[in-house]
Amino acid sequence: MRRKVAAGNWKMNGLKEALAEIEALKAINCKSCDVILCPPATLVSAMVTAAGDSGIIVGGQDCHWNETGAHTGDVSAEMLSDAGAGAVILGHSERRADHGETDAEVNSKTQAAWRAGLQSIVCVGETEMQRDDGETLVIIGGQLDGSTPEGATAENTIVAYEPVWAIGTGRTPTLDEVGEVHDYLRGKLVARFGEEIGNEMRLLYGGSVKPENAAEIFAVSNVDGGLVGGASLKAVDFASIVKAAS
Ligand code: 13P
Repeated sequence: MRRKVAAGNWKMNGLKEALAEIEALKAINCKSCDVILCPPATLVSAMVTAAGDSGIIVGGQDCHWNETGAHTGDVSAEMLSDAGAGAVILGHSERRADHGETDAEVNSKTQAAWRAGLQSIVCVGETEMQRDDGETLVIIGGQLDGSTPEGATAENTIVAYEPVWAIGTGRTPTLDEVGEVHDYLRGKLVARFGEEIGNEMRLLYGGSVKPENAAEIFAVSNVDGGLVGGASLKAVDFASIVKAAS
């Protein structure tokens, strides 16, 4: 039985005053799901303090593969861990597009996350053109293979399927399309990491998850919760999504 996950990705949004949003989430105290919130790096430490003993896991949105060094503007996995983070999103399509991140780099970052004791949330997803060309499974399969290192376990890795064309657009794949991709990813995880680990790893869907569609998406087979952008910024919306994962 896989625990559901409600993960929020604040992206480049949020000043200190936004931390008040998590008060409503603390009250939910989901016993049957994991709640992960990934604010910008500037807020990780303060959010950890604000989260207190609520059980909310705070995560980063990226990390460098090195522990320290001359990498101006970057943040290492150890720094996130030092700030109290327990997880980090890696290989988000916005980083792949804006910063040219490759599968090999995401793979190195994932190893860095594990080195620092962080749970990695590794993202894969096809563009609209790739879907229209019938390449969805080939693309996400390749991204999964390239971005996840040997040694992945259910404890150190979560995989998020985020179709690029569904992010921030209000459009989502049909439930059948979501199920097709998640079944495929499950099969690949089992083939590579074995029955036990492959069946225990959580697979999240991301891309325009809202309070209105969360429950039906989370009910699709092999969907173990969501990675939520816009709707994670408002506590009332994210709280309904957390409830849908409960
Ligand atoms: P939206 O929920 O805003 O579509 O963003 C999804 C996402 O990119 C989460 O990482």
